[in-house]
Amino acid sequence: MQRLMGATRRARVLGIGAQAGTHAGAPAGAGPGEDDGTAVVLTEVWRRYGDGPGAVAALRGITVGLPRGRLTCVMGPSGSGKSTLLQCAAGLDRPTSGSVQVGGVELTARTEEELTVLRRERLGFVFQAFNLVPFLTAEQNVGLPLRLAGTRVDRARVRTTLASVGLADRAGHRPAELSGGQQQRVAIARALVTAPEVVFADEPTGALDTGSAREVLSLLRRSVDALGQTVVMVTHDPVAASYADTVLFLADGLIVDALDRPDAAAVAARMTRLERS
Ligand SMILES: Nc1ncnc2c1ncn2[C@@H]1O[C@H](COP(=O)(O)OP(=O)(O)OP(=O)(O)O)[C@@H](O)[C@H]1O
Ligand SMILES: [Mg+2]
Repeated sequence: MQRLMGATRRARVLGIGAQAGTHAGAPAGAGPGEDDGTAVVLTEVWRRYGDGPGAVAALRGITVGLPRGRLTCVMGPSGSGKSTLLQCAAGLDRPTSGSVQVGGVELTARTEEELTVLRRERLGFVFQAFNLVPFLTAEQNVGLPLRLAGTRVDRARVRTTLASVGLADRAGHRPAELSGGQQQRVAIARALVTAPEVVFADEPTGALDTGSAREVLSLLRRSVDALGQTVVMVTHDPVAASYADTVLFLADGLIVDALDRPDAAAVAARMTRLERS
């Protein structure tokens, strides 16, 4: 249904400036192995780096299902495996063992070329450092996933997506001519333009001031509430986590806790406990 939704509707319902959506119907999280309502399924995922005495196990047997049409946050102390988890879930890294399914597709069985196509066509990415192409305009950056997919770039779709993040009047600007918050909004438009199965975001507000961070979080939240987008976000910030439907807490490569409909104070309290233990 989401894939059939026109760009105009996506733009209209995202409409920047409105309040963040409500946290409707927070999930308990679909069980692993069930595809129904589950966008991403990890089963017994291990990721080890190196061999011998210096080996590090960044993920130690993670099994979790991430629900479709929800914003799931991943938190945990530095080095707990958050980025590794996101990269394995998004097909940017390969688990040492275990299974990762996205939209019913088993990633670990795919070749590098197949993964590249799958990421391009079915996933969206937002990074802390924005990762825009410096010599392309905002509009060209947003159109890039469509261009790479080899389809004719639908300019109206690109423009409405850019408008949906409040940047209709910055279409011709290059990244260096935009503020950090504006650059991240371009990156979000670029992630959303293909109506991907899942948007993965690693610390999307890590480089932003409080006001810009709130705008970015509201946009991600609204993409979930209004468009049914699935978003998986890593963050250090309990306030950012409070925009999620569910927060998963990682420690030493394992999910040790989860909070539904979190508020910032409860998230901060759990993080303090984790960092002390
Ligand atoms: N390429 C690598 N080679 C070796 N060890 C790695 C590599 N990447 C990550 N690690 C190790 O794996 C563990 C998990 O790293 P990861 O980057 O997933 O943590 P994180 O929770 O995202 O941390 P942060 O909050 O600092 O971003 C760490 O101990 C890290 O040192
Ligand atoms: Mg990280």
